[in-house]
Formats: sequence, structure tokens, C-alpha cells
Amino acid sequence: MFSFNMVSSCIVIPVLNEHDNLKMMLQTFHSDAHLILVDDGSTDGVEEIAAKYPNVLLIERGRASGLVSAIMDGMKEALKGGADYIITMDGDGQHDPLYIDDILEFAKGEGADLVIGSRYVKGGGTQGFTPPRREISRVANYFYRISFDGGINDATSGFRVYSRRAAEYLVRNPPLRGSYAGQVEIVNELYRAGMKVKEFPITFRRRMSGDSKLSWADIFDYFIYTLVSGNLWKYILVGASGAIINELFLFLLAPRIWFPVADIIAIEVSITTNFMFNERWTFWRRKLDRGLRRTVTRFYLHNASSVLGLSVNFIVFIGLALLGSNLLLANLVGIVVAFSIRYLMSSQVIWVDGHR
Ligand code: GDD
Ligand code: MN
Repeated sequence: MFSFNMVSSCIVIPVLNEHDNLKMMLQTFHSDAHLILVDDGSTDGVEEIAAKYPNVLLIERGRASGLVSAIMDGMKEALKGGADYIITMDGDGQHDPLYIDDILEFAKGEGADLVIGSRYVKGGGTQGFTPPRREISRVANYFYRISFDGGINDATSGFRVYSRRAAEYLVRNPPLRGSYAGQVEIVNELYRAGMKVKEFPITFRRRMSGDSKLSWADIFDYFIYTLVSGNLWKYILVGASGAIINELFLFLLAPRIWFPVADIIAIEVSITTNFMFNERWTFWRRKLDRGLRRTVTRFYLHNASSVLGLSVNFIVFIGLALLGSNLLLANLVGIVVAFSIRYLMSSQVIWVDGHR
């Protein structure tokens, strides 16, 4: 192992059978850059390449245990070595080492705890994606934005700079998911811990050789994560609470006033309580202008989306019923469609994170 005396930054690269890519890639680093390769039992001779470079430390874990868990192990080692900043990047050449100086300087200048090399901000891009892989990446980031807070455009990117503070925090609170989903979990954890997360435009290059290690199981794991840990279930619970409050007010008012008026009041009360719960609970972490003016605007938009939801529900119901569908089924489909539209409007239009 090399001694990291006074080392200010360290580059962590997870690798799994990337022999040819690594061989090319390692040639492009300065000889004074400190690199940590975290390998999971590659059978293509990664040791030989690593041994050629005195500035490269190889951590051998033996068997594939996931991209993010490899990054975490590399991070621990970098912290032990005294690194102030830790850069993580892929070992297949898709992340251009030429960005490192700029992204580091940006991190220092911003005082950021995490800088994400982003493909989806102005100036960034992708060259190296096959069309299906590109869609997976787009959809994954879309799911991130509708499910979580923080408004990051490329929360799945693996090209990152972590401050020592962020890395120490992550070692104390490691992500539960050791695979690709852990990348997003890390972004969320740091955001929730109040750390400064920034994006820096990068172009994601073509893989030099070999294939992506992303599996269907990883993709599935990620979507389960967004469903379980995201805001959607909160939104569903708020909707259910609205239905109960609606019923309760109708129950209280109907014996006293003309029933259609009672129903309208009950509906508006539940729209209002839904708004309050979404404001204070579902989307409470989002950086929003919480002043009166903007809050009232959100309230109007929320009312509009509720009316839109009712209309969509009704139109789908009538449409399916005319096509001969069972009425209860037609209504259920209407409810689900309307609910989805409302969730998208709420998470993407009404309660939009100001971080973007
Ligand atoms: N040690 C170790 N263990 N390394 C791994 C493992 C693992 O289980 N799985 C993948 N790697 C290494 C690969 O060898 C490569 O160097 C790097 O991690 C990225 O893996 P790829 O398989 O090339 O990922 P990708 O190109 O499909 O995904 C890229 O984009 C994703 C977002 O769309 C990466 O940048 C990911 O980090 C990113 O989440
Ligand atoms: Mn790759």
C-alpha cells in the first residue's frame, strides 16, 4: 500500500473484468494521481496491470458484491489514506479522466460535498449508449425525480467527487443497496443530511470494450427502491386520508344542509387537507419557496389538478363503459389513470424542487 501522506485527493475505480479498458485508462493518469481499484475477483489479470503502477492500490474482494459496495470499500481506504476529496469513476473508459481537474476545482470552489458528473445538464451528454440502455438511464432518472427530493438531473451517474465530510458520513451511514441503486440512495442520503450536492456537465463516452455489468436484477432492485423509499406511497396515503375526510364531512353536513352543497364542501375540505399534508409531509424536504404567495399558487394548482383528476376519471369511466366494460372496472381504471396524472403533476409541476 502506498502512504497517502498529504494526499489531497484519491480516485476510486470499481472494476469487474475490465482488463483491456483498464490497461488503456491507467496510461492516461498522472503518475502522482492516487488510484484505488476495487476488484471483485476478475479473472482477466487485473493484478498484473495494477502491479505496473506504484500509484495504484488494488483491493481484491474476491467475488462480485456490487458496484456501490465496491465504491464504499474504496472510499474507506481513501479516507484511511487521508484523502480530502474522493473521486469515483468507472473502469471501462466511459468516464473521461480529463474531467478530473475541472470537477475537483468545481467541488472546491463550490464547497460542495458531492459533485455529480452529469450527462443531463446543459453541456453534458452521452455518446456511448445503445438506444435501449439510454432509455433505461433516462427512465431511471425520471423515476428518481418523481420519487425523491433534490431535483438532481443525473442521480445515477457514477462519476463523482465526494468531500471528506460526505465520505465519512457515508461510511457511518452506508447505503443499504450495494448495487447500482445505491448510487441514488447515496444522493438521497447526502441531500437529506443537508449536504451540498451539485452537478457538473460531462460527456459519457462509449465503453472501450466488454459489456455493461448492469443486470435486470439491478434494474428491478432500483425500481423497487424508488417505490418503497420514494414519495409515492406518502401521496397515496394522503389521497386515502382525503377520501376519509371527505366522507366524514359529508356525514356531518348532509343532515344539516342541502346535500349537493354538503358534498361540495366535503370535497373542498379534503382537497385542502390533502394540500396541507403534501406540503408538510409528502414533499416537505423539497426546497420550495414557502412564502405565502407561492404557497397560495401551489394551492390553486393543486385544486386545478384535483378538478382535472375528476374529469379524467369521469372521461375514462364513460369511455370504457361505452366500450362495454364492467362499470366498477371502468371506474377503477379511471381512478388509477387520474391518480397517476395527479401524482406526476404534483411531483413535477406543483411541488418542484428549487434545487434544479
Ligand atoms: N468491483 C466491482 N464489483 N465493480 C463493478 C461491479 C461489481 O459488482 N459491477 C460493475 N462494476 C464496475 C465495472 O467494471 C465498471 O468499471 C464500473 O463498475 C461501471 O459498471 P458498468 O457495468 O460499466 O456500468 P454502466 O456503464 O452500465 O453504468 C454506468 O451508468 C450508470 C447510470 O446510468 C455507471 O456509471 C454506473 O455507475 C451508473 O449508475
Ligand atoms: Mn460502463
